[in-house]
Amino acid sequence: MADLSWLKLKEAVGRCRKCPLWETRNNVVFGEGPEDSSVLLVGEAPGAEEDSSGRPFVGRSGRFLTDLMAEAGLKREDLFISNVVHCRPPGNRNPKKGEIKACLHWLEDIVGLLRPQVVVTVGNVPSQAIMDTKEGISTLRGRFHRGSLGGMDLAVRPIFHPAYLLRNRSREEGRPVASTLEDLRALVDFVRTTS
Ligand code: URA
Ligand code: SF4
Repeated sequence: MADLSWLKLKEAVGRCRKCPLWETRNNVVFGEGPEDSSVLLVGEAPGAEEDSSGRPFVGRSGRFLTDLMAEAGLKREDLFISNVVHCRPPGNRNPKKGEIKACLHWLEDIVGLLRPQVVVTVGNVPSQAIMDTKEGISTLRGRFHRGSLGGMDLAVRPIFHPAYLLRNRSREEGRPVASTLEDLRALVDFVRTTS
């Protein structure tokens, strides 16, 4: 898109009808955060509370992830937070391949404006879409990967989805919550050493 600005991009996404998800949405969830953040966090899709508020990660999962980030020393308001698809899939089903394909270029435009150092992918859907892999999140998490989005090379750090963590709340070492805290702390170190 020529002459792209945050405002124009946000307006364009707000009007988008490129996949059928527009028909059932109440609000487009573009994403939010500082326009110069070095970290882009990418979730799967808006849920019910995101759809009704127009904001990402504000439901139960989002609040749980926000709390874990704080515990790891990351402030939610320092990150730019968005999703692979910007409209809620009915009944919170996973977004379909075609929907992801139709929507991904908006995220590429966000990357073009934001120019982050690192992308945190939350769960299988964004991790697999951005790294073009079929590997699952348990295999992918725990390290940085090289990825590319919108023609930009980026470090990618996959983490478990908070909905999964809410069903597996043990804090014991080696369990998903402890692993996620490790991932988030590694992210803090990464940002500190590369900026
Ligand atoms: N909230 C979001 O916006 N995305 C998710 O993937 C989960 C919760
Ligand atoms: Fe457009 Fe994405 Fe919403 Fe589909 S999910 S209508 S591609 S903004």
